[in-house]
Amino acid sequence: MEIYNPSVGRYDRMKYKRCGNSGLLLPQVSLGLWHNFGDVDLFENSKEIIFRAFDLGITHFDLANNYGPPPGSAEENFGKILKKHLALYRDELIISSKAGYDMWPGPYGEWGSRKYLIASLDQSLQRMGLDYVDIFYSHRPDPVTPLEETLGALAQIVRQGKALYIGLSNYDSETMRQAVKILDSLNTPCLIHQPRYSMLDRWVEDSLLDVLEENGIGCICFSPLAQGLLTDKYLKNIPENSRAAKPHGFLQKTTITPELRKKTFKLNTMAVRRGQSLAQMALAWILKDDRVTSVLIGASNVDQLENSLECLNNTTFTSEELDDIKKILVV
Ligand SMILES: NC(=O)c1ccc[n+]([C@@H]2O[C@H](COP(=O)([O-])OP(=O)(O)OC[C@H]3O[C@@H](n4cnc5c(N)ncnc54)[C@H](OP(=O)(O)O)[C@@H]3O)[C@@H](O)[C@H]2O)c1
Repeated sequence: MEIYNPSVGRYDRMKYKRCGNSGLLLPQVSLGLWHNFGDVDLFENSKEIIFRAFDLGITHFDLANNYGPPPGSAEENFGKILKKHLALYRDELIISSKAGYDMWPGPYGEWGSRKYLIASLDQSLQRMGLDYVDIFYSHRPDPVTPLEETLGALAQIVRQGKALYIGLSNYDSETMRQAVKILDSLNTPCLIHQPRYSMLDRWVEDSLLDVLEENGIGCICFSPLAQGLLTDKYLKNIPENSRAAKPHGFLQKTTITPELRKKTFKLNTMAVRRGQSLAQMALAWILKDDRVTSVLIGASNVDQLENSLECLNNTTFTSEELDDIKKILVV
C-alpha cells in the first residue's frame, strides 16, 4: 500500500472525551506503540495498524523514547510512517512521548533530571521528524531528583514549544498532589496521568482516580488488557507469536498460572453472555468509570484493533454483573 488516503468517515464512530478540565478531546480508545512497532517487528504490519487506527477515529498515538526493541526504533518507524503518509494530517493527531526509563549509558540517560528529560525529548523529536509533541510525559517518578526539577523541566519544554501539554505516568496519588501544587506555581497544568489499570491491577481505585478528578486531570489507562491476559488467547495454551511466547516481550509465561486461567475463563463466559469478546468487556469495564478519559491499548494486528474497538458499543454494566466480576477477581 503506497498511497494512503484516510477514510472520509473516520470521525463517524469514535467517541471523544474531554481530558480533565482541558480543552483537549481524546478518543476513548488510543493506540500505544510499546510493542509491535520496533525494528524486530514487520514494518508493513505496523503501518497497517496505524492506518486502520486512524481510519477508525483513533487520533492519539502514544510513544516513549525507549519503545522498540531496540529502544528508539518505534519512534523512528512511526516517524517514517508520519513523514510519508500522514504529514498532511499532523493537525488531526495527538502524539505523545515520554522519558524516564533507561535510554542511554551514563548518569544522564534515565530518571527525571532536567538534563535527561530535555535531551531525551530532543532525540525523540528528531527520531519522529517532529517540531513538537502534543503531550510529553515524565515516564516515572524519580526518587532522588527534586520533584521541582523534573516538573520545572516539563514546564520549560512547554515554554520552548516542544510540547503542547505535559503528563505524568506511574506517579502515586500523594506525589500527584504535590505535583499539582508545584505545577500550579509554574503555570503549567498537568493535562493527564497515565497509570496501569486493568481488571487484574486495580491500584488506581484506592485514591489516584479521585485525586485526578479533584484536580481536573485526565486519565489514560495503559495495559488495559493486562498485555493480552484479559483476552481469550491464553485460555487454553500460549499461542506462538503471542507476547508471552516472544523472547523480547515484557509478559512472562510464568504469569499465566492455572489460577489466572480460572479467572479469565469465568470472565470470558460473562463476556460471551454480554455479547462481547473478553477484550471488549475488559476495556468497557474501565471505560464505565467517568473519571477515565481513554484506554490505551496495544494491538499486534488489525483484527485485534478492530475487535477491541467494538468495546465502545456497550460500556454499561448492571450492578449484578459488576458484583460478579468483583467476586471472580478476588478469588
Ligand atoms: N506509561 C507506562 O509506563 C506504560 C507501560 C506500558 C505500556 N504503556 C502504554 O500502553 C500501551 C498499551 O500497552 P499494552 O500493549 O500492554 O496494552 P494491552 O492492550 O493490555 O495489551 C496489548 C496486547 O494484547 C493482545 N491483544 C490486544 N487486543 C486483542 C484482542 N482484541 N484480542 C486478543 N488479543 C489482543 C495483543 O497481544 P499479542 O502480541 O500477544 O497478540 C496486544 O499486543 C503501550 O503501547 C504504551 O503506549 C505505558
